[in-house]
Amino acid sequence: MDIRILPLPAEKAKAKITDESQLGFGRHFTDRMLLVEWRAGQGWCDARIKPYEPFVLDPACMVFHYAQEIFEGLKAYNWVDGKVALFRPEMNARRFNQSADRLCMPAVPEDLFLGGIERLVALEQEWIPTAPGTSLYIRPAMIAVAPVLGIKPSDHYYFYVILSPVGAYYDSGFSPVSIMVEDHFVRAVPGGTGEAKTGGNYASSLKAGLDAKKKGFDQVLWLDGRERRYIDEVGAMNMFFVYGRTIVTAPLTGSILPGVTRDSVLKLALTLGYEIEERPIDIHELMADIRNGKVTEAFGSGTAAVITPVGRLSYKNETLQLCGGAVGEITQNLYDTLTGIQAGTVVDTFGWIRFVDIQ
Ligand code: COI
Repeated sequence: MDIRILPLPAEKAKAKITDESQLGFGRHFTDRMLLVEWRAGQGWCDARIKPYEPFVLDPACMVFHYAQEIFEGLKAYNWVDGKVALFRPEMNARRFNQSADRLCMPAVPEDLFLGGIERLVALEQEWIPTAPGTSLYIRPAMIAVAPVLGIKPSDHYYFYVILSPVGAYYDSGFSPVSIMVEDHFVRAVPGGTGEAKTGGNYASSLKAGLDAKKKGFDQVLWLDGRERRYIDEVGAMNMFFVYGRTIVTAPLTGSILPGVTRDSVLKLALTLGYEIEERPIDIHELMADIRNGKVTEAFGSGTAAVITPVGRLSYKNETLQLCGGAVGEITQNLYDTLTGIQAGTVVDTFGWIRFVDIQ
């Protein structure tokens, strides 16, 4: 599909962030965005890259009432040789369409998803930060825009992509975060939308997140929705627990997000000589294993969070320290290797990097 490039008027061009240490996460947006529409009977149409600006939407739009919405997150990296690299974007394209299917939304053809992102990133190349640990976060999303209050799939959608130069997701950067295991609220139930990347999963997690913050923790770790016994995920991260040289994570049972970084960690771990196990993790056993020193490290993974060490885990009335509150050796090794591949300083033997065609 042809993508029209609309002019960027001088007054819509923003000042770049010069101090990259102040970027934070998702607070600044580039000058342009991609917008493509889907209409019943017509399919995908009117693809354009246009100045970044607010949507004018009818207050009755279905997304506002029934949350028919999905999104993705991936990153572009500025390499020292001037190349611009995307990390496994095909996986995001695939997962976007799995989410679309779950939410009864139209699939976005992979060449439109990837081609649209590449054209946009190429035009916005000068927004990609260069400091270590920074990148250009890419946020594709799809929303239902038909102004109809009846509950049914919309007949009009916007697929759009916005870009945000980012630093670390957590204000503390690459240092251990503290996590509270939620034993009352649940994030997902079998058969629900837990494995789809849809806004409702995040909206329903806010209450527990605020409670955890009040108690002095950075994040919530969700247990399974049936028994509140097995580890699911942290909203923005899949979780890993290190037992000596074995890295254990929860299996993809349908209620957790199939993370691109999760998959990359599992593949990297094997090549780095570690064992991996995908198995149900019982919270009571996990706490006992931390208490008696069997669990030597813990970390989370996500596109935004990259690999984030966990220094404290709290369940009910007990808070345990992991790895003496420091960054563990295996966590550090995985972080260095993964971020090295993404930045182009470690050879990508997996074929994960896709370069953006910058003309
Ligand atoms: C990501 O890691 O890309 C996410 O979407 C997590 C969060 C920022 C919602």
